[in-house]
Amino acid sequence: MSNSNAVVPNDLSAFWMPFTANRQFKKSPRMFVAAKDMHYTTSDGRQVLDGTAGLWCVNAGHARPKIVEAIASQAAELDYAPAFQMGHPKAFELANRIVDIAPKGLDHVLFTNSGSESVETALKVALAYHRVKGEGSRTRLIGRERAYHGVNFGGISVGGIVTNRKMFGTLLSGVDHMPHTHNLKQNAFSKGLPQHGVDLADELERIVTLHDASTIAAVIVEPVAGSTGVLIPPAGYLQRLRDITKKHGILLIFDEVITGFGRLGTPFGADYFGVTPDIMVTAKGLTNGVIPMGAVLVSAEIHDAFMGGPEHVIEFFHGYTYSGNPIASAAGLATLETYKDEGLLTRGAELAPYFEEALHSLKGLPHVIDIRNIGLVGAIELEPVAGQPAKRAFSAFLKAFESGLLIRTTGDIIALSPPLIVEKTHIDQIVGTLGDILKTLD
Ligand SMILES: Cc1ncc(COP(=O)(O)O)c(C=O)c1O
Repeated sequence: MSNSNAVVPNDLSAFWMPFTANRQFKKSPRMFVAAKDMHYTTSDGRQVLDGTAGLWCVNAGHARPKIVEAIASQAAELDYAPAFQMGHPKAFELANRIVDIAPKGLDHVLFTNSGSESVETALKVALAYHRVKGEGSRTRLIGRERAYHGVNFGGISVGGIVTNRKMFGTLLSGVDHMPHTHNLKQNAFSKGLPQHGVDLADELERIVTLHDASTIAAVIVEPVAGSTGVLIPPAGYLQRLRDITKKHGILLIFDEVITGFGRLGTPFGADYFGVTPDIMVTAKGLTNGVIPMGAVLVSAEIHDAFMGGPEHVIEFFHGYTYSGNPIASAAGLATLETYKDEGLLTRGAELAPYFEEALHSLKGLPHVIDIRNIGLVGAIELEPVAGQPAKRAFSAFLKAFESGLLIRTTGDIIALSPPLIVEKTHIDQIVGTLGDILKTLD
């Protein structure tokens, strides 16, 4: 579908764009005006292949009929219902459907409106859980270097990306970080899980020794760190974290905002790795990115710990005006149905070997210092231009856009995460275009 006549405003100054080089953008804007399945349409009428599922969220591809229809009819039937002390059926139905596909043992759902809010919710549940259990001294939160857990204060405190933290003061107190697992020296050009680095999980033992387990509430990690540039955990690493957290009564939180809903070829990252956390953070793919929504899944043990006291008293003082919003719930239900109808939560597993071979064919091209992949996520790391970090990859991003391909870059890493409806011909196009661009980069 072409929508090249869409009007583009000639004054772009009022909108201060998120995570964007605003001045560069406004000098030469890149606008999408329509999207269908695997493609965007630009304001000048070009088709751009979506190599990133929007921002890692449009897992079923764009403008899927069931989702479009569900949103329209829900808006007409029940547009909004108060989220506190009132309910509407679709939020309960969606929670049930999420639990159906979630790893066994994660039985209760708190709704949010984004990944960032899901992270805050998860951290607060963890702190409050220990308190209601009589272990109120467990207040420390442990994150990881290079982690991305959204942009709110809890998330940037446990997160580990310096640019996202350094401007914002001292953040939450009582937070510690494990080392990241990226190791180009030993693991460059790994296919799937890197073989070196399982022992980095033992850093958690060091932190426990330093602070004592009785002061630690939770550890939060992305099963595969996405936004920082696709850091795939070493084989055995997440299992070891699970063992250590269990041993010390520390909750394990998986931030599955990217790895959830089929990205790795399994419904969740927890399924891929065979490791079940106590709390799972989701968003993005839950509604195919169409309506903002997140969901935090918790074990029955955590949920039940709150269910004491007089029945008329609110058990957990937390929630949002839009938690379980009717239109978001309808979008979520239609999204999960679309995933089910088309087998999308496991389709990535079928395509992963083809994706892997295609990506690794770029080895040897100029500036390429690593290629890594898992499920339908891939990354190509480039040698930075001396003294100008991120410039080379950004230039690849601009050239890709001009050549009809949307990629995502972080620093000098190109990340790929196509919608799960991607076909082999699209993978060929992604890799072919990137190959041509890499040959021409300064
Ligand atoms: C792992 C992870 N957590 C949290 C977030 C934040 O999500 P949002 O941008 O919806 O707040 C993201 C976004 O990319 C993410 O990748």
